[in-house]
Amino acid sequence: MGKVIAIANQKGGVGKTTTAINLAASLAATEHSTLLIDIDPQANCTSGIGLEPKDVEASIYEALIGEVSAQETVLSTEIPFLDVVPSHINLVGAEIEMIDVMEREKILSNALKRVRRKYDFVVIDCPPSLGLLTLNSLTAANSVLIPVQAEYFALEGLGQLLNTIKIVRQHLNPDLEIEGVLLTMFDTRLRLSNQVAQEVRRYFGDKVFETIVQRNVRLSEAPSFGKPVILYDATSKGSRNYMSLAREILADNQRFLQHHSNGSESDDDSAPLPATGNPSTTGTASNRADNPEESVPGALSEAPEEKTPANDFSL
Ligand SMILES: Nc1ncnc2c1ncn2[C@@H]1O[C@H](COP(=O)(O)OP(=O)(O)OP(=O)(O)O)[C@@H](O)[C@H]1O
Ligand SMILES: [Mg+2]
Repeated sequence: MGKVIAIANQKGGVGKTTTAINLAASLAATEHSTLLIDIDPQANCTSGIGLEPKDVEASIYEALIGEVSAQETVLSTEIPFLDVVPSHINLVGAEIEMIDVMEREKILSNALKRVRRKYDFVVIDCPPSLGLLTLNSLTAANSVLIPVQAEYFALEGLGQLLNTIKIVRQHLNPDLEIEGVLLTMFDTRLRLSNQVAQEVRRYFGDKVFETIVQRNVRLSEAPSFGKPVILYDATSKGSRNYMSLAREILADNQRFLQHHSNGSESDDDSAPLPATGNPSTTGTASNRADNPEESVPGALSEAPEEKTPANDFSL
């Protein structure tokens, strides 16, 4: 079974879609078969990867309402090893339509059971809310990656997100891990960015990725050409940052990948995944300090050892 990573933060415009597209493309570039799922009615991920949402015949919406199987919504992309499940504006109504369905938080998890086996990674781009679509994503996921914009009020709302993760773990998906917290839109020239990075590190400790995504105009231009940045400008800072993130995630998930490629996993869909790190940092970068590439000098130089509030959610 592929590892399912949900990219979530209910705050708008923090870099969820940019991260979903470019992480998925970078994982594919390392020849790991990857499925990118757009579960946001805005369908930014769909258009950002080069599909016209209005031309999509079967989207995640049809899979969620059971009209088609998830497999039937999968489209290939111009990147080898990368497939996509598109979204559609119809998805706006899905949250209402799903309300009366039994086990409504598990619809996506059930829909993905078969299709996820074909991939090493499944990356889900969540909408900016903690509604039923995000809950479904967290229930279907092995881990959650939280992008945090290096801006004022970066931590605002994160308590609510952590609380949601906790509730999902208690009631729906006990194995949900925090893959990591990713600083995005970091501006090396601003002291503010460094201050925010320090504060995020103080709060989340070693759950923060060593990789920081810097503000880079190529990242914001690429979606209008329907391309991940790695195809639009492979040598740009943005492209290198997301390759670095992919490598960090691959390093953190070695045990999982070995297990996956051995085919030793059980066919039982409820079988838990192998642990990817030590119990206190499972799902986070246990060897992040060994991967300083693309890190910003002085931004995250010291990782405090002490317990952080996010430890309450460690898995
Ligand atoms: N590192 C970056 N450098 C420059 N621009 C960026 C960067 N990351 C994201 N952006 C731009 O910031 C805007 C918001 O990013 P994005 O759409 O990825 O956020 P989001 O969290 O998915 O938003 P929403 O909550 O609406 O879904 C976009 O215009 C995107 O191109
Ligand atoms: Mg988005």
